[in-house]
Amino acid sequence: MSAAASRGRPGFPRHAEALEALGVRGRRRALMPRAGRDFSSNDYLGLASSELLRAAARAALDRGVATGSGGSRLLRGNDAEHVALEEEAAAFFGAPAALYMGAGFPGNVAIFSSLPMQGDLVLHDALVHASAHDGLRLGRAETQSFAHNDADAARDALRSWRAAGGTGRAWIACESLYSMEGDLAPLDDLAAVAAEDGAVLVVDEAHATGLYGVQGQGRAHGLDPSVDLLSLHTCGKALGGAGGLICGDPMLIDTLINRARNFIFSTAPSPLDAAVMRAALRLVAERPKLREAAWRNIAHAHEAARRGGFGAFGTQILPVLIGDDAEALALAQALQARGHDVRAIRPPTVPRGTARLRVSITPNVSKDEIDALFADLADIRKAAA
Ligand SMILES: Cc1ncc(COP(=O)(O)O)c(C=O)c1O
Repeated sequence: MSAAASRGRPGFPRHAEALEALGVRGRRRALMPRAGRDFSSNDYLGLASSELLRAAARAALDRGVATGSGGSRLLRGNDAEHVALEEEAAAFFGAPAALYMGAGFPGNVAIFSSLPMQGDLVLHDALVHASAHDGLRLGRAETQSFAHNDADAARDALRSWRAAGGTGRAWIACESLYSMEGDLAPLDDLAAVAAEDGAVLVVDEAHATGLYGVQGQGRAHGLDPSVDLLSLHTCGKALGGAGGLICGDPMLIDTLINRARNFIFSTAPSPLDAAVMRAALRLVAERPKLREAAWRNIAHAHEAARRGGFGAFGTQILPVLIGDDAEALALAQALQARGHDVRAIRPPTVPRGTARLRVSITPNVSKDEIDALFADLADIRKAAA
């Protein structure tokens, strides 16, 4: 019995009803203890629990790095570790300036709520992350979505907006690798659309940082330098820590510092996290073997998937489309019962009718474990057919 109910009050019947309704539709979530072999994390380089980053954390503590920042960056919270990380990140990602936020989600909220201005247009891929949508809702610019990965549709929308009298700046937002599709954005084509109009290209590199690019700088690194590029690199995935690094023009970074409410009115990230991320960037740059090990597993997984009759786009994320929410959930549970930590992804994370299993491949599993997963998946699907 809830505390309110035990005091004779009604508790939260409307919340209970809403949760029950989610349950009926196969969409109620619950926190589960971590169990089984890792086919669901975004720990793409296996750094999150690595001795390499644990050692970096210990070394940072030993040299006196603080665990907490004690305040907003604009007040007492601005630590030398934040500043050093931003300088090193800008150099690594080939950007003129960078800003460190507590995570990628607030990074996107900051970008979209404060950079596009009244009279501007934000054109975004139909499948951009929830954090971009939340930022856009707080912002002042007009927004339009274009069909997933369709640069021609983005161009048409932009031309129509100009023809209808749009005079502000255009911003084109995409992800470089889509988290739930596992497919890659046509970045060169989108950059060409941006170049034609003088638009800013905003690329969320959450799932590409560390794994793509010559040294793991992501997929936007090396794009046409005449395009105004703003990129977001999340630190909680391949980099094995926490945070979000926004990289781009110093004027935009300065605008974030002055106008992004969730940067200004929030305690700065832990300096220890910043120190660990400095180490992660160095590891990614200096140890290509980390990336090579990850790609060996990814290549192996694609081979196993192909043998099992599952299609994929060649990236570390292999979605298995199911469609029905309850069916996807049952399939995930059957795989979990066999020791594979695979999760069902359901609406609203993905569009209605496209529930799926999201298999992600990291160095945290062996090739035999990858083979066993795809064998079990084929087996369970055959039994269910
Ligand atoms: C594409 C994309 N952008 C942003 C984020 C948010 O990043 P973070 O988890 O660091 O808040 C995610 C998280 O899953 C993501 O997939």
